[in-house]
Amino acid sequence: MARKVAVFVGSLRKDSFNRKLALALADLGKDFLDLSLTPLEGIPLFNQDLESDPPQAVLDMRRAAAEADGVLFVTPEYNRGLPAVLKNAVDWGSRPAGQSVWAGKAGATAGISPGAIGTAVAQSQLRPILVMLGMRLMGQPEVYITGGPGYFDLAGGVADGGNRVFLLGFLRNFAAWLG
Ligand SMILES: Cc1cc2nc3c(=O)[nH]c(=O)nc-3n(C[C@H](O)[C@H](O)[C@H](O)COP(=O)(O)O)c2cc1C
Repeated sequence: MARKVAVFVGSLRKDSFNRKLALALADLGKDFLDLSLTPLEGIPLFNQDLESDPPQAVLDMRRAAAEADGVLFVTPEYNRGLPAVLKNAVDWGSRPAGQSVWAGKAGATAGISPGAIGTAVAQSQLRPILVMLGMRLMGQPEVYITGGPGYFDLAGGVADGGNRVFLLGFLRNFAAWLG
């Protein structure tokens, strides 16, 4: 049976390139990985006063991560940094102390941006946070994509054959990384 991967997208934008990338990855890998996007829209800002009795959206998000064999973070870069929406989700998943959903979980990161460095800074900020939380993070291949609407075809797939081969390689590596 295909291994389950919870996908966290760091953009709430309707036409998000990162959401498109996540959906394209789910389709590309569907024969050997079961990738599901985890809704982050209803997640409030983290408040430690609420961590012992979190809102339902947080419980749903935590369950998606806990039940998955691995977690894939697909993130934009905002002002040379990690989007708050993703850091917020990571913080909710890490609490209460001793009940983190990240510890020991296999993980990987990816991202797409029209900018020249393709989310490298955002991912470079995210990765040490995930490592500190005890995730088993895949190192290679790195997925720093410079691209916009033209990266995708009209059906939402990845338009270029070479890019599809690269992303399929990334997914196969991640499937192996899940063990
Ligand atoms: C607040 C803000 C800051 C941004 N900063 C960066 C940046 O530092 N580097 C970058 O490559 N793109 C930056 N961008 C452009 C985003 O890469 C672009 O809006 C992208 O489409 C966002 O990802 P999404 O399509 O998944 O929503 C920024 C966009 C916004 C809204």
